[in-house]
Amino acid sequence: MVITGGSAGLGLVLAGHWARAGARVVLLARDQQRLDSARELVQQGAALPPLGFSVDLTQAEQTQTVIDRIQRELGRIDVLVNCAGASTRHALAETAPALFQKQLEQNFMTAVNCTQAALPHLLAARGQVIVVASLAGRTAWPLVGAYVTSKSALVAYAAQLRLELGDRLRVLTVLPGPIQRSNETSRYQAEAERLPERALQPGAGAPVKGLDPDRLAKEILSAAERGQIELVRPWKVSFLFQLQALFPKFGLWLLRRLTR
Ligand SMILES: NC(=O)c1ccc[n+]([C@@H]2O[C@H](COP(=O)([O-])OP(=O)(O)OC[C@H]3O[C@@H](n4cnc5c(N)ncnc54)[C@H](OP(=O)(O)O)[C@@H]3O)[C@@H](O)[C@H]2O)c1
Repeated sequence: MVITGGSAGLGLVLAGHWARAGARVVLLARDQQRLDSARELVQQGAALPPLGFSVDLTQAEQTQTVIDRIQRELGRIDVLVNCAGASTRHALAETAPALFQKQLEQNFMTAVNCTQAALPHLLAARGQVIVVASLAGRTAWPLVGAYVTSKSALVAYAAQLRLELGDRLRVLTVLPGPIQRSNETSRYQAEAERLPERALQPGAGAPVKGLDPDRLAKEILSAAERGQIELVRPWKVSFLFQLQALFPKFGLWLLRRLTR
């Protein structure tokens, strides 16, 4: 199985769980040093030694070359986890078009490049694609407009894959809220200087408790095993999504209250 963004954060935690469950894990990310350390960590308790390849997944050709190499070396790609991504903090009115483009490249094109390159192998293996989006893939939220836009595109791409290829490919969309991490407040310091305090908070101040990455990873593995289509965490946010879909004006009123 291939995990993009497997050298850090949720991708690394997922890689550890899958490797301990017996999968041959391949980590993809850009920074070779981080990849090497991640591979050592994942190796602990793994049945099969993990592999790692440095690649910039925003680059379609590089991505295709790496996917072809993995297919040649392993003979099979049955699961692809699209977890690479990044978020930024900006007020919408101050978000330059170039930043939208960058976020689309980081959060959407990374997944598109990798999935389209691996599709023939995934289909041949009657495999599975897991797309790690975000709650931001289904709702607007202040200060993360470009991220919201890119994750919404990702959610739509997963839905399209499921519709057109769902008879030969399982597709799981994961929509997690903020995930607990050690550098929570320092992460956005540089860009959040001129923004309200909430810009520094996980999920730009979303009023939900940070998710435990280990627990989330276990839930993703189990949802993938069961062939689930979607996983929303915390699950209670599903109610907000349903309200927004059924009663758009009320949904907007509620969202405004939550974001005050
Ligand atoms: N953290 C949260 O609170 C949260 C909440 C909801 C959803 N998510 C989503 O969950 C995923 C993981 O988030 P995280 O915070 O755990 O991530 P993270 O710790 O920032 O790690 C991101 C990973 O993606 C890789 N990556 C980024 N750009 C890449 C590129 N162009 N090509 C190849 N690899 C690339 C990074 O490695 P290199 O930099 O070395 O390339 C790294 O391995 C993301 O998609 C994120 O949007 C996160």
